[in-house]
Amino acid sequence: MNESKAAIRAWTRAQARLGLRMARPSIFLGVVSSLLAVVQIWCIANILGPALTTLLPAGGVVSGEVPIWPFAGFIGAALTRMAVNATSEISSAAAGRAARRRLRSEVLSSIVGAGPAVLRQTHSGALAALAVDRIEALDGYFARWAPASVLWIASPFCLFLSVLWVQPRAALILGLCGAAVPVAQAVFGIGAAVASRNQFLAMTRLQARFLDRIRGIATIVLSGRADEETARLAEAADDLRVRTMKILRVAFLSSASIDCAMIIALIAIALADGHHALAAADDADRQNLLRLVINSLFALLIVPEFFAPFRGLALAYQDRALAQGAAAEILALPEPQSVTGGQPVRTVEAHGVTIAFEDVCFTWDASRGPALDHVSFIAPAGETTVLAGPSGAGKSTVMELLLGFIRPDSGRVTFNGADMQTIVPEAIAKMTSWIGQRPVLFAGTLKENITFAKPDATPEEMAAALRSSAVDRFLPDLPDGLETVIGEGGFGLSGGQAQRIAIARAYLKNAPILLLDEPTAYLDPVTEADVFESLKRLALKRTVILASHSTAVHMFSGRRVDLAHGRVTARQGAA
Ligand SMILES: Nc1ncnc2c1ncn2[C@@H]1O[C@H](COP(=O)(O)OP(=O)(O)OP(=O)(O)O)[C@@H](O)[C@H]1O
Ligand SMILES: [Mg+2]
Repeated sequence: MNESKAAIRAWTRAQARLGLRMARPSIFLGVVSSLLAVVQIWCIANILGPALTTLLPAGGVVSGEVPIWPFAGFIGAALTRMAVNATSEISSAAAGRAARRRLRSEVLSSIVGAGPAVLRQTHSGALAALAVDRIEALDGYFARWAPASVLWIASPFCLFLSVLWVQPRAALILGLCGAAVPVAQAVFGIGAAVASRNQFLAMTRLQARFLDRIRGIATIVLSGRADEETARLAEAADDLRVRTMKILRVAFLSSASIDCAMIIALIAIALADGHHALAAADDADRQNLLRLVINSLFALLIVPEFFAPFRGLALAYQDRALAQGAAAEILALPEPQSVTGGQPVRTVEAHGVTIAFEDVCFTWDASRGPALDHVSFIAPAGETTVLAGPSGAGKSTVMELLLGFIRPDSGRVTFNGADMQTIVPEAIAKMTSWIGQRPVLFAGTLKENITFAKPDATPEEMAAALRSSAVDRFLPDLPDGLETVIGEGGFGLSGGQAQRIAIARAYLKNAPILLLDEPTAYLDPVTEADVFESLKRLALKRTVILASHSTAVHMFSGRRVDLAHGRVTARQGAA
């Protein structure tokens, strides 16, 4: 736990360093904006000062008329400040965008690198929330928090110095009230961080639950549990509401504490300076009185500017808490796997690839024992090896090792004698076709789905793939032939038809290794026999590993390895 906390802290610190580097322009512009505010306020004080002194009992403008320069100065400073603030906003937004792009690509490459193995540990809804919402929410961390974390000291300090120059007494009051703010913020900040972390957890839970229930809608309706599930969803939504309100409450308290400090500063300066101004009003020295009024006005008007960066920091504090929450999730993702060594693989198509498992052990979860326990077998080049075994025997784990998504805890997996870990993942991906239990169809046309692995396939290659996979048998039934839109929201296909599309894809890819993980698990016996027929054609001259507990695998002549509880229990053929 402490280790993970330290990791989160290290990650946030690294991000903060990056964020600060990107926020440099915004910080510089923020300080410039504060200095312009000083000019603006000085001009206003010089406009209001002479006007106010005329109202005093022994009034009369001292130096003749109200000078023109404060008006010109005020307008000039206001326009420049507007431009500076706009540029600063644009630069913050750009920093936020760049950071989100960088983080999103890091997270996506972790997810893609981990492959399906990541879904055994994390809910797909939570992954989607991380890649989309969590990272979107980090915008504030880079666009607001990073500049605010410096400006809350730099800007008030500049303003403090300017007040110290003209009115040391008011500067003292400002300094004292300003120093009280961080104390209050620290108290509320901790509360805000906890509240915001809880809120995000509740949101992720709600998303995962909703996705689950949508996927299982048929089971829910048929089990007559629709009402209960709706009530549960409502509960989760309510939980989210309560937690969101808590954040708002803490945010309200934190902003109220800044307002209090500001009001106290205003009243204290007004009282102290008012007292002196009244004393001066009785003197004959009008020049002195005017200077005093201008200085006091300047000090008073600068108070809201002085506290504005604190408010900016308080608003951005939540963004920091969100970053810490995201850190925990991003760090929980598996590290992108690096290749050790870097030997080129001795292959390929001409001679085929021989795959060997040498004493391989792998454990998903130590409390549940090893999923693979000293597994050794050989799948010779150009032959089919059937992995048979009951559910939970470890067949899919073997497949995931072969796909390179996970690594053996001990032992080696070799391709033509070269340890898989020394082969670059791209080379493995190029050598391998994989067909799982449920083929993935993307929303798009049938043609796009088939040419997914080889977009530049020639019409002849395409025709051959359609014929060999028997897609051409159901093609005439589709409304637009190869251009029919399938996948999510598209034309419905049966399990067997979908599996044929996966086979056609594998034909086009023409890789020397073919991994089949129960490709007929959801098919009826007749369709299963048909699909196996197509697969047999596809298997010719390739190294095939077929995981299945179907009795129909006898259609594949070749070697057979029996697995049970992660151990090899029997071998037939010379495997
Ligand atoms: N994320 C995980 N955490 C803990 N144990 C896991 C995890 N994933 C799989 N296992 C365990 O590993 C073992 C092997 O699982 P695997 O999915 O490889 O089996 P399988 O032979 O493919 O089963 P099936 O025929 O049902 O697909 C099982 O006992 C399973 O419970
Ligand atoms: Mg399996």
